[in-house]
Formats: sequence, structure tokens, C-alpha cells
Amino acid sequence: MIYTVTLNPAIDKTAVISGFCAGTLNRIESLREDVGGKGINVSRCLLALGEKSTAAVILAGGAGRKCREYLEGAGISVLCEEVPGETRTNLKIADPVRGENTDINEPGPEVPEEVLARLRERIAEKLCPGDTVILSGSLPRGADKGLYAAWCARFSACGARVILDADGEALRLGLKEKPWLIKPNHEELAALAEVDAKDPAALLRAGEALRAAGVGRVVISRGGEGAIFLTEEGSFSADPLSVPVKSTVGAGDSMVAALAFAAERGLDPEATVRLAMAMGAASVMLPGTDAPDVECVHRLCGEVRMNLA
Ligand SMILES: Nc1ncnc2c1ncn2[C@@H]1O[C@H](COP(=O)(O)OP(=O)(O)OP(=O)(O)O)[C@@H](O)[C@H]1O
Ligand SMILES: [Mg+2]
Repeated sequence: MIYTVTLNPAIDKTAVISGFCAGTLNRIESLREDVGGKGINVSRCLLALGEKSTAAVILAGGAGRKCREYLEGAGISVLCEEVPGETRTNLKIADPVRGENTDINEPGPEVPEEVLARLRERIAEKLCPGDTVILSGSLPRGADKGLYAAWCARFSACGARVILDADGEALRLGLKEKPWLIKPNHEELAALAEVDAKDPAALLRAGEALRAAGVGRVVISRGGEGAIFLTEEGSFSADPLSVPVKSTVGAGDSMVAALAFAAERGLDPEATVRLAMAMGAASVMLPGTDAPDVECVHRLCGEVRMNLA
């Protein structure tokens, strides 16, 4: 079973306003709502691949109820702790005329430490050796930056593979617990290792240093430049797939879903790289964080070009 963790989920409300202008009256042309948060995005992508997952989430108020209804309606099992307040609603203003996006994000509720500990233990109780847990996305307001590190240690001790997709301090601290896999993007890794994000050789060296320090696998996504995969079976670099781009938001989450799926199904390194690249590319072809189309993913798998890094 794959478990995703979303400690600060959100309802993403996207309003299309042509020629949006702050300080004046603006009229919304269309409005869509998506249930978001990086772990939930991963669960949605897994579902597209035909893989069921359990989403562990912290929910609050009416917006929290909406998230829960969405997840259950989609066929994603929910492991939930509730807190007072409201799950955040993030307003995204898309201006097709200027080609600009404006984000207005709520902070989300504060989550008491004992609630976080309760959710952690409820996940740990369910875990069987060989299960996969994905820790991704922002931490709740005020939460300890070492939370992912502590959860990684707890779940690894249960025999689970832990995939960590975090940045900044949460990533730096998390590395000490030697996650099974991390998936920083080039900027996140560059900030961590203090190297140039545009220098693939420096990124490769930084990834190798992390593996030498005990991280099992390092996948460095480089947006439209492709990705580098450092695994036990060797290091590979994959060229980007050339696809029409609608929205790059959540491309990394699609890639993480592919990596978790590949681990659960025991895919070999080449098939893993192909699926990860195809999922990332198929995701940018769709608006928002819509899950990739599986037929498109299968077609793109055959187009991936990879080399030994
Ligand atoms: N413009 C693009 N064209 C083709 N493939 C892309 C493009 N952008 C992203 N991808 C694919 O998706 C993968 C992940 O993208 P990216 O590096 O942007 O992740 P990310 O920054 O972690 O995204 P997020 O955190 O928003 O999910 C890339 O390695 C690549 O394979
Ligand atoms: Mg990312």
C-alpha cells in the first residue's frame, strides 16, 4: 500500500480574469476548484495509474469536509485528524491576456503537536514492511522543521520505504534519517548543496554526495531540462520530452507518484525512469494539477531517451 501525507491541504480556487488589475473592480470569467496539497496530488496521479493509495491528511472546518468528500468520492482512502479552524483556500488568479498568475494563499490552521503525533502513529500502526510512505509539501504553521525527519525515522523502522519531497530545512533535516528516495528539483538541491542549479555536473555530484551519506536514491528533476536519477543500479540522465505545456504545477508530484508506483510494482531502473519522465511530461500537458492521461503516459514512455550519467 502507498500512503501519502498532506499536513497542510488546500482548496485551490482558480479564477480566470482577463486583464486582472489590482486596485480596481475585476470580474471573474470562470472559476474552478481543485482539492490540492502535494500528497493529495500524488494520490490523484496514483489513481490515474490504477494504484490505490491512502491519503493521510489534517482537515478543518467546511473546506476540510469538502476535501474529505472529494477524496472518498475519488476512491482514495482517507486517514484523517481534524483540528479547529478551516482548511485553507488558496485563490489563484489566472490572467490569459497578460499570461500572468497571481497567488493569494491562506496560511492554514495551526496543528497541535499531539494531533500530528496521533496521525503519525495511526499511519505507523497500519504500515507493513514493503509499504511506501510519501512525505511531501509544506508543514502546518508552527510545526517543527524536523517533523519529516522524525516521521521518516518512525516509518523506516516499520520497514516502509520513505519518499521525501521537501525543501529547505525540512529536507536538510530529513536527510539525516536516510530516506529511501528523495526528489528535489534542481533549485531545491542547488540551495541545499550550495551549487549552481544550471550546472548538471554539479547537481550530479551533489546527488552522489547525498547517496554516499546514506540516502537510498536521489532523483533530481530539472523542469523542462529533464532529470537525473541516482540509484543503487547506476546513475541515469534523461532528456526532457518535448510536449505542449499548459501548466507545470505539480509535474514533480506526478513524477513522485510514478517513482512510488514503480517501487511498489518492482519495475526495473529503465522502466522506472521511463515512467517517471512520461508522468512528468504528461502532467504539464494538462491545466492545473489534473492527473496525467494514462494513454498519453504509455505513449510517452516509449519516447524517453536516457543515458548513463
Ligand atoms: N516544460 C516541461 N516539458 C517537459 N517535461 C517537463 C516540463 N516541466 C517538467 N517536466 C517533467 O516533469 C518533471 C518534474 O518537473 P519539475 O522539475 O518542474 O518538478 P517540481 O519543481 O518538483 O514541480 P512541483 O513541485 O510543482 O510538482 C521534470 O523532471 C520533467 O520530466
Ligand atoms: Mg516539487
